[in-house]
Amino acid sequence: MVRLGVNIDHVATIRQARKTIEPDPVDAALIAEIAGADGITVHLREDRRHINDRDVKILKKTVKTRLNLEMSINLLIVKIACQIKPDQATLVPEKRQEITTEGGLDIIAKEKKIKNVIIKLKSKGIWVSLFVEADLEQIKAAKRVNADAVELHTGTYANAKTEISVKRQLDRLLKAAKFAKSIELHVYAGHGLTYQNTAKLLKKIPEIEELNIGHSIVSRAILKGMDEAVRTMKMLIQSI
Ligand code: PXP
Repeated sequence: MVRLGVNIDHVATIRQARKTIEPDPVDAALIAEIAGADGITVHLREDRRHINDRDVKILKKTVKTRLNLEMSINLLIVKIACQIKPDQATLVPEKRQEITTEGGLDIIAKEKKIKNVIIKLKSKGIWVSLFVEADLEQIKAAKRVNADAVELHTGTYANAKTEISVKRQLDRLLKAAKFAKSIELHVYAGHGLTYQNTAKLLKKIPEIEELNIGHSIVSRAILKGMDEAVRTMKMLIQSI
């Protein structure tokens, strides 16, 4: 069975729009788990634009499935991860100005640094996954630095518009997944996955063990919940 990691960053994005206490990603994690999530994923960004230190600390205590912390290799963030000890850390590249994670980690360019970060994380018992493009050289490098898993970046697949380009991206991801599995790396995937493109990906690539999906699930949660939210406020107003 493919595991679903639910990324709740954007629950915190809405909270931070007002810098208030709601909606609380901790509450969202609880409901996601009750609904069947196999894991909760959060990205503690260096600029703390959505998830913050308090969230990660509380989630570590309340998540009953698995807590997956997406993080850069910034030393302060690594220190926090080693203190909090999530079940899993997913190393991602991080740029200040980006809207979301752009591209996979360039492991080859930062091999020594990443290897040292992985040693630190593993010494705390943290399972380590690296977010990579479907690129065989990067996947080989993931093995060299002793990662447990690679999360294949599905963003280009998700953005592909024509049938030919969708097929090309799926073929590329399949080749990468097969290769990663053949060198004994666990294979995960994520980014840009939606209710429209996820089934096709899973049918094509049976090597995938885990998906991490955020924006699309949080978007649907808002729309599905809008009816109840408006009705309840309307009733409250009319009851006076
Ligand atoms: N996986 C990784 C490594 C990510 O950085 C993100 C975005 O935070 C996701 C999965 C989830 O992507 P999306 O929000 O597009 O579903």
